[in-house]
Amino acid sequence: KKGSYEHFMQKEIHEQPESLTTTMRGRLIRGGSCNAKGVLLGGLKDHLKTIRRSRRVIFIGCGTSYNAALAARPFLEELSGVPVSMELASDLLDRQGPIYREDTAVFVSQSGETADTLLALEYALKNGALCVGITNTVGSAIARNTHCGVHINAGCEIGVASTKAYTSQIVVMAMLAIAVGDDAISSQSRREAVIDGLFDLPNKVREVLKLDDEMKDLAKLLMDEQSLLVFGRGYNYATALEGALKVKEVALMHSEGILAGEMKHGPLALVDETLPIVVIATHDNCFSKQQSVIQQLHARKGRLIVMCSKGEASLVCPSGSCRVIEVPQVEDCLQPVINIIPLQLLAYHLTVLRGYDVDQPRNLAKSVTTQ
Ligand code: UD1
Ligand code: F6R
Repeated sequence: KKGSYEHFMQKEIHEQPESLTTTMRGRLIRGGSCNAKGVLLGGLKDHLKTIRRSRRVIFIGCGTSYNAALAARPFLEELSGVPVSMELASDLLDRQGPIYREDTAVFVSQSGETADTLLALEYALKNGALCVGITNTVGSAIARNTHCGVHINAGCEIGVASTKAYTSQIVVMAMLAIAVGDDAISSQSRREAVIDGLFDLPNKVREVLKLDDEMKDLAKLLMDEQSLLVFGRGYNYATALEGALKVKEVALMHSEGILAGEMKHGPLALVDETLPIVVIATHDNCFSKQQSVIQQLHARKGRLIVMCSKGEASLVCPSGSCRVIEVPQVEDCLQPVINIIPLQLLAYHLTVLRGYDVDQPRNLAKSVTTQ
C-alpha cells in the first residue's frame, strides 16, 4: 500500500497534488459566458443563509485540525464579515464557554471521532447553534451528528501525523469562505482570483514538493539540535504552529510555533547564535513586518532559516548570511497550503535521521477517542 515509499507519512506528503484535486473535484465552477466563477458545496448549500446571518462563527477542533481552521480564519473573516473565533475543543469544554443559537459552530476533524471534538459538538447542539462538520471520514460520529457539513475527500490517512488532511481542510474552509461570501458583489474579483488560485494549486504543490532533497539536507544540519523555533504571522501563524507540531510529534524534537508579533514580549530572550529559527516571510500584507522581524533576529545573531517567495531571497536576507527556502507564491489565503509542505518534509527527514518511528510516533494514537 505504500507503493514506492518507505513510510505512509512520506507517501501522504507526496500525494498532496492528487488529494487536493479530489478535495476540489466537482466543487469549483470555472465560470463562462453565462455563469460566474463560484464554489458548490453540496452539503452546505441549504445552510449558507443561516451561516451568513449568524452572529459569530466558532471553529472548534484539536491539534492539526485546529491549526487548519486557524489558517482559514482570516479569509473567512474577510469574505463573510462575520467574527470568527477559535476554540480548542478541550478548552471550550473546560470553560463551558458560552455558545448561542445565533452562532455557527464548525467542527473540524480528520477522523470525525475525536472525543473532545465530539463532546464539544454535543455541547453546541444542546446550546442550539448551527453545527457544521468538516471531516475526512464519511459515516463518522461528527459527520452523522452535525446538521450539515463538507467531506474533505482527501482519501484515507494512515500516518499518525496528519499531512494531506491538513491541506485539504484548509482548501475546504477557503471554499466555504467563498460560498458564504458569494452574495457580496464587492468581493467578486477577490473570490474569482482565489478560485483561479485553487485550480492551479495542485501544480504549485507539485513544484514545492521538489524541495524534498533540500529539506533532507536541512534535516541533516538540524538533526542533533535540541529545539527549533518557527515564527509566522497573519495567514501563516497557523503554519508556524503546525510546522512545530509536526517536528515535535514525529521527530521528537522540542519545537515551538511563535506568533512573530509576540516576539518582543518574551521569545526574543531565547535568541542566540545556536538556536535554529525558521521565519516564514512569503509575500503578503505582513511582509514588511516580517522583514523587520528578520532584521531584529539578525541583529541578535539568530541562526535563521527564512522561507520566502521565489525570487525574493535578497529581500529577506540582504546580508546573504541566512539559509533560505524559496517557495512558489500563490494567493495569500492559499499560501499556508504551500508553506506547510517544506516543514512536513523537514519533520519527516528529521524523524528518519534521528531513527524514530515515522508512522507510529511514541505515545500517540491516530484517533484520540478518549478524553
Ligand atoms: C455528495 C456525495 C458524493 C457525490 C456528490 C454528488 C456522499 C458522502 N457524498 O457529495 O459521493 O459525488 O454528492 O453531487 O454521499 N455532512 C454533514 N457533516 C459532515 C460532513 C458532511 O452533515 O461533517 C453532510 C452534508 O451536509 C451532506 C452530506 O453529508 O448532506 C454529504 O456531504 P459531502 O460529501 O460533502 O457532499 P457532496 O460534496 O455534495
Ligand atoms: C497531528 C495530529 C493530531 C490530530 C488531532 C485531531 O498530526 O494528527 O494533532 O490532528 O488529534 O484529530 P482529528 O482531526 O481526527 O479530530
